[in-house]
Amino acid sequence: MVHSKLPNIGVSIFSVMSQLANEHNAINLSQGFPDFQVSGKLIDLVSKYMRDGHNQYAPMQGVMKLREVIAEKTGALYSHKVDPEKEITITSGATQALFTAISAFVNEDDEVIVFEPAYDSYVPVIKLNGGRPVYVQLKPPYYEIDWSEVQKLITARTKMIIINTPHNPTGSIFTAHDLEKLEKITNGSNILVLSDEVYEHILFDGYEHQSVARFPKLAEKSIIISSFGKTFHATGWKMGYCIAPENLTHEFRKIHQFVVYAANTPVQYAIAEFLEDEKNYKQLNAFYQEKRDTFVNLMKGSKFKVRPSQGTYFQLLDYSGITDEKDTDFAERLTKEIGVASIPVSVFYHEKIDHKVLRFCFAKSNETLEAAAEKLHKL
Ligand SMILES: Cc1ncc(COP(=O)(O)O)c(C=O)c1O
Repeated sequence: MVHSKLPNIGVSIFSVMSQLANEHNAINLSQGFPDFQVSGKLIDLVSKYMRDGHNQYAPMQGVMKLREVIAEKTGALYSHKVDPEKEITITSGATQALFTAISAFVNEDDEVIVFEPAYDSYVPVIKLNGGRPVYVQLKPPYYEIDWSEVQKLITARTKMIIINTPHNPTGSIFTAHDLEKLEKITNGSNILVLSDEVYEHILFDGYEHQSVARFPKLAEKSIIISSFGKTFHATGWKMGYCIAPENLTHEFRKIHQFVVYAANTPVQYAIAEFLEDEKNYKQLNAFYQEKRDTFVNLMKGSKFKVRPSQGTYFQLLDYSGITDEKDTDFAERLTKEIGVASIPVSVFYHEKIDHKVLRFCFAKSNETLEAAAEKLHKL
């Protein structure tokens, strides 16, 4: 008999919905990945660095040039000075960085505050490490945080608070006010903040990304995780990074070296060169705002209600005007009968709370979005 360490975890909803979409030849707006090509320039750079012989293990912490460019970008965007030698680690995607960070700091019986709906990788890793998730619900329709509720949940055992802005699955973003509240709540404590900022370059309507890096007192206790997969339409490359103060990075790297040792070498060199031109990430806000607006406009006149999306490449649609079916049932029916796959938002809650909303990924060509909207109008 195998004793499962995660007895209640099955196959991820993303695999389930993508497989269902394939079986029924449905348009797949479920899993969050773009259907655009990676920049030819970036692909040429990867190939150049491979040809030039950068094909063996990178330094465990990551290629120095890439860490330097990340430090410059962080300084320029968030006025936060980071030491590339001691405070930045390149990872095999954000998922690995999140796993490593939680494993480095969460011990048996530690409590970790998690906001729900929550990206699905946090809680299993907390549990694997013997920690206890403490849940706080974001308040729809704007999915805001009631910080007084958070304050009440803090105990002597609270080790970490995990935040995610821009937020998957809801598309909500933190305001400066949210971060000021978080700073106040954690001030003077040993609580760490794990800040998942993988969508840092995808915000709309002129909003600026509120990184914890902007807030010096928070930055002292934060582990920031980002992903190049989101920024360069290259989710399959699995490249990300972690920024944390020296003492935290020291512990992070102890685990990192035994999870992957080092991330992909030629891709690190290529991204380092590509990142030097800030246009390569600064144009992303406008690019995705246009996608969001296209999808939202296409959905006008349908029976779905559009929820606010201020960042990420996800749009929530409220279907309470169509049916009171469970969101998991409705998402399945939508895939099989209408031909559009989405993600039911209840799966992002440990108690499967059903607000009758589905998550759609709009990182797709306009033709795909038009075809999907046409089908959704049939309801
Ligand atoms: C909020 C959030 N964090 C982390 C990740 C994982 O990023 P990566 O693909 O770089 O592992 C994702 C990917 O969907 C995400 O949405």
